[in-house]
Amino acid sequence: MYSKTESTFEFFDSDNTSNKEHKIILVTGGAGFIGSNFIRYLIEKYPNFKIINFDKLTYAGNLNNLTTIEDNANYVLVKGDVANSKDVKTAFEQFNPDYVVHFAAESHVDKSILNPDIFLQTNVLGTQIMLNYSREHKVKKFVQVSTDEVYGSITGDLKATENDPLSPNNPYSASKASADMMLRVAFQTYGQRINVIRACNNFGSYQFPEKLIPVVIGNALRGMDIPIYGDGKNIREWMHVEDHCKAIDLVMQEGVSGEIYNVGTGNKWKNIDLVEYILEKMKIKNDLISYVLDRQGHDMRYSVDSRKIRKELGWKPQIDFEEGLDKVITWYTNHMDWIEEIANGTYISYYDNIYKKRMLETQ
Ligand code: NAD
Ligand code: DAU
Repeated sequence: MYSKTESTFEFFDSDNTSNKEHKIILVTGGAGFIGSNFIRYLIEKYPNFKIINFDKLTYAGNLNNLTTIEDNANYVLVKGDVANSKDVKTAFEQFNPDYVVHFAAESHVDKSILNPDIFLQTNVLGTQIMLNYSREHKVKKFVQVSTDEVYGSITGDLKATENDPLSPNNPYSASKASADMMLRVAFQTYGQRINVIRACNNFGSYQFPEKLIPVVIGNALRGMDIPIYGDGKNIREWMHVEDHCKAIDLVMQEGVSGEIYNVGTGNKWKNIDLVEYILEKMKIKNDLISYVLDRQGHDMRYSVDSRKIRKELGWKPQIDFEEGLDKVITWYTNHMDWIEEIANGTYISYYDNIYKKRMLETQ
């Protein structure tokens, strides 16, 4: 299961326990989009932290996301499945982490509509197994990376607060809401130290080209159609991934145990307006836009009230949306090789499965 067995020993030999900043952080799903950004952020900011990346390396887990830090002495990769007790037990016994930051999940709504089962297995059972071993190993804090989607579609000008009822509408968000409930149980019943973070839509480098922004940029760069679901009027709130990483770090270290923190920017866009804005920035004509059959059960609008994390922990987004978007467009433009490597046979059949049928049905 361990991909770097020898360096695991070095990992602890280079330990400096006299330094009070020393922390061992088990990050699950660290080869994915947000997880890999988070690991890079931790390694740059905290030279004394040890990071274990526990990842199953599914289609969304990409070791090319971590090439800049893969040789760092404070980093180790463990290939394992959060829904497999044996894998998780072995990792806890070997590394005895102080903190767990749990990103690992099946994360794409369209995929969850096609095949909900794996979403329950990874997102619900996997979270419970991680919680079980965190309890047994007296982890100081378990941080659940949840989502604003658990509140369901938000009407009018309202924003969801942390006390609002959960009202998920698709298999992905229902699985994330179920996991959040097990976090509540961990705190209430077992007295575990936990936090739940519910963030809005992230964008940034290394995002898998199944999510809106990388689909738009990647397709535009290759002259391919850009699919807009339904009438394109659904609204999402957008945040640069580095702002999310900072919020997660803050909550991990300073969040009050048992608390939920919404993380949002207030930066809301109708999908079609955002797509047109990106194309304008890229100087690409709108005629690539293609309206396709809507997502089933498509939530109209997400929106979170993030006053709690701002007031209580002093977080606020620091990356201006336009600058962030420019950076991301430049990143994808300069990393076409990263996209091309993903765009293999499995991705092509996924893409055909999701989009071709939608396109045909609108003709
Ligand atoms: P992603 O799909 O890019 O990455 C998921 C990672 O988890 C991959 O590396 C994958 O290999 C790994 N993984 C999947 N199943 C696993 C398993 N059974 N065991 C171990 N590892 C497994 O996802 P992302 O967009 O980076 O999202 C990360 C987390 O953040 C998720 O929990 C998601 O619900 C949450 N979130 C995402 C967003 C967003 O906009 N992307 C917003 C809010 C919350
Ligand atoms: O809100 C947080 C959530 O954001 C995370 O929890 C999820 O993991 C993440 O996938 C994301 O979910 P969304 O469904 O909002 O993201 P997605 O990028 O899939 O879609 C954004 C919007 O764009 C949504 O209204 C659907 C629409 N869309 C998406 C794609 C991929 C299109 O119109 N065309 C597309 O090709």
